[in-house]
Amino acid sequence: MALFPCSAVPALRFWGLRGARAWTRWPRIPGGGWSVSCFAGASSDTGGGGHGQKKFLLQDIAELIKTRACQRVVVMVGAGISTPSGIPDFRSPGVGYYSILQQYKLPYPEAIFELSFFFHDPKPFFTFAKKLYPGNYRPNATHYFLRLLHEKGLLLRLYTQNIDGLERASGIPDSKLVEAHGSLASATCTTCRRPYPGEDFWADVMVDRVPRCPVCSGVTKPDIVFFGEPLPARFLLHLADFPMADLLLILGTSLEVEPFASLSDAVRSSVPRLLINRDLVGSLARNPRGRDVVQLGDVVHGVKRLVELLGWTDDLQDLIQRETGKVWPAAQSQEGSLLLRGLLDLEQSPVWLTL
Ligand code: OAD
Ligand code: ZN
Repeated sequence: MALFPCSAVPALRFWGLRGARAWTRWPRIPGGGWSVSCFAGASSDTGGGGHGQKKFLLQDIAELIKTRACQRVVVMVGAGISTPSGIPDFRSPGVGYYSILQQYKLPYPEAIFELSFFFHDPKPFFTFAKKLYPGNYRPNATHYFLRLLHEKGLLLRLYTQNIDGLERASGIPDSKLVEAHGSLASATCTTCRRPYPGEDFWADVMVDRVPRCPVCSGVTKPDIVFFGEPLPARFLLHLADFPMADLLLILGTSLEVEPFASLSDAVRSSVPRLLINRDLVGSLARNPRGRDVVQLGDVVHGVKRLVELLGWTDDLQDLIQRETGKVWPAAQSQEGSLLLRGLLDLEQSPVWLTL
């Protein structure tokens, strides 16, 4: 399962030290210390439920939302929700960034998010960041489903690990968002800590120039969280949100990076958790609960099933149509029409979205 040697990852990052560094971002050692065998062979729509308990299913989750028995929904997402927009995730073997980044001559893939390597050679990071230039990619049906959840007054908070900004681009307001690993929207000088304007940052990055502080010439870094760095203060909102949540959705994440991963355990034990992901991951594999539902497979496909069960298909299509018209006024052009068709189909592949 590991895409790179564990020896490349400093021993400090082991799971056992998590408590001591609760606000600092550490990767989980892939495959280290736990197994997913308890759900081995799980297929789509796997519900929890022990002996004599009714298996909890996707339609039960939909029913709870429809009847408003659940109306404080907390959502946790990762790179898997952006792959349908054409952005690789990190850990999918062969296609994730940690496989592709081998071409950047890194000592090991996660070095791309390590300060020590960044100071040694910032170029690989900026080459990576350049691909995520705002506007290069567009939200997909999963992002718009989350926006719909907000519009229906059901979204308590969306916790994202993504730095692509697609949650904001889909129209989810800042007040509902926690960008746990920061964002590329702003940057700071690594030497004097002065803010560096986002426009200047991108102007440099797009011409392959390392952005430097005009005052002290220090290298500027976007305000994303590197391994070992503290998470943004907003992450503290989880202390209030998770105990209040009455439903947890986990979409498109391997739950390999702490402290984000542990949030999946922070809801009350009676609260249903729905994982929509290609793989069974994290605590849903290790410590499944009676009201867990696991929808394995493509995230857009899983979201589409949920949307159908909720009876929201028309609402979602209307929202997407409205937004694509707004965000991409070229929707009348051939390119725009293809894009719109792909979005409305809800089964879009990256090809539709990266035209
Ligand atoms: P990962 O790449 O670790 O995990 C993505 C998960 O989504 C995997 O389980 C994939 O199988 C799944 N997946 C991918 N595409 C999917 C699709 N179309 N449908 C369903 N599932 C899909 O990404 P994260 O969990 O986000 O740091 O990684 C966490 C952090 O690791 C990231 O925030 C990143 C990295 O260090 C930064 O960007 C700063
Ligand atoms: Zn400076």
